[in-house]
Amino acid sequence: MTTLSLHWPAYRLFPYERLLAIAEAIALLSSRQIAEDPESVTVTADRPAAAPRLTYFSAYQTPRTPPAPTVQHLIESETSGGSRRQSTRYSVHGLHEYKGKFNPQTARALLNAAGLPKHALVLDPFCGSGTTLIECAHSGFRAVGTDINPLAITIANAKAQALRCDPELLVAEAEAAFRAAGRSRRGRLLADVRGAYLHRWFDAPMLARLETLRAHIVERDPSVSEILLVIVSNLLREFSLQEPDDLRIRRRKSPPSERDPYQAFLEDTRALAANVRVVQRHTGVCNATSVRAHQGDMRTFATAAAARGMISNFDAAITSPPYAMALPYIDTQRLSLVWLGLVDPGTLPSLQAELIGSREFNGSPRSIWERKLVDNSERLPAAHAALCQRLLEMLGEQDGFRRQAVPSLLYRYLAGMRDSFLSVRSLLRPGAPFFLIVGHNHTVLGGHRIDMDTPALLSTLGETAGFVTERREPLQTYQRYGLHQKNAICREELLTLRAV
Ligand SMILES: C[S@@+](CC[C@H](N)C(=O)[O-])C[C@H]1O[C@@H](n2cnc3c(N)ncnc32)[C@H](O)[C@@H]1O
Repeated sequence: MTTLSLHWPAYRLFPYERLLAIAEAIALLSSRQIAEDPESVTVTADRPAAAPRLTYFSAYQTPRTPPAPTVQHLIESETSGGSRRQSTRYSVHGLHEYKGKFNPQTARALLNAAGLPKHALVLDPFCGSGTTLIECAHSGFRAVGTDINPLAITIANAKAQALRCDPELLVAEAEAAFRAAGRSRRGRLLADVRGAYLHRWFDAPMLARLETLRAHIVERDPSVSEILLVIVSNLLREFSLQEPDDLRIRRRKSPPSERDPYQAFLEDTRALAANVRVVQRHTGVCNATSVRAHQGDMRTFATAAAARGMISNFDAAITSPPYAMALPYIDTQRLSLVWLGLVDPGTLPSLQAELIGSREFNGSPRSIWERKLVDNSERLPAAHAALCQRLLEMLGEQDGFRRQAVPSLLYRYLAGMRDSFLSVRSLLRPGAPFFLIVGHNHTVLGGHRIDMDTPALLSTLGETAGFVTERREPLQTYQRYGLHQKNAICREELLTLRAV
């Protein structure tokens, strides 16, 4: 038994982060908490050697040694440019924007708190841009992610690739593409189906320059070219005629960017390489081949995985699932999806409609889902079907086209999540935890505000799919920098299910 004093970081933690911090210390160090003060927590630990892996502590020390920094503290502080705020863009996390991205520290702390064996195999069924996969790579776990959105898969795999790349080669190849593109006197023309779409959203000279850069990037070393393309993809909205920060696609009202796109590409590549050097120095060159994202629909993924002989003995799953009636994410990613050649522009609406939580029906009309809802032909739990049927009855004349669809959309969302849970359950070994960070929703129907307790709805669905609910923990957050804690709000919950 060793007595360890664990130091809090310089930034203020949310209450749930402090709870997670204690949970990870107990599981990782096999420890018991004996005291707490504003600066630190004191524990007696059976496994003190694991202390460098803690997420929410900046340092640890024994009564006889000076404080030693945790790996997380080193990585965050050496890549934050001197800021004392919690960084969520350390390592490769800032490679590409992705709406609904999850806090990387939360994923890492959950992995620690789960008490997983060495080289455990982790699943993220809705992996998005790969936050969980990257934190698994940092922690030495193997991981598989799945997402229906091909852009998510491209970003997640580019991040994994960046973790194991040679950062000097990354910069050298970016500089070579930059020079070659700069020398091209005539920009390339896009005469293909991509061009027909993209010409609507870019000035012709800008599009020609981006296309020239793309042509030179694809000729570079294959171990880094995909990463470089993703860096350019992240810049597309800035240099387009779309309003860059708008969740919906609207014509730009703000002035065009003053940066040069080739310079911006080089700056972003150098910044990424600097982060990769730091993370490789502190964790070794990660064996990031053991983390991989696969495109697929989670509702049917387990069946497809079994057919391909994929391993189905996962030790844990961690995810932030889609929301009911989520914003049309695919819309804001259209430029990237088309420019990277991931989808034919004509199929964008059907891709949007396939997402769980989509607001679009496309191909499977609302009337079909309304009938299923009335008959509960998907055999959802009685309370879930009753909730959707009550919403249907509440609809009033004043509810427009979008609101008329809400009950059927909610019913379709719940059926999709139930099927996904069945799929996840068949991939997990018995006893494995399934952590979900779930948001609350509300809608207005017939002039009344209706709050939807999505964590409770998903907890019951999980129970019908072979899980037990272990706990529900509110994740109180407030504006970390500026506002006082009394303004705390609880928009999300940590739902912990366990495979039976
Ligand atoms: C909240 S986001 C996850 C974000 C992720 N945690 C991250 O850090 O980037 C939910 C994800 O679910 C995906 N999704 C929606 N329907 C799906 C389905 N049927 N199968 C797999 N993924 C799906 C969406 O494409 C989206 O990326």
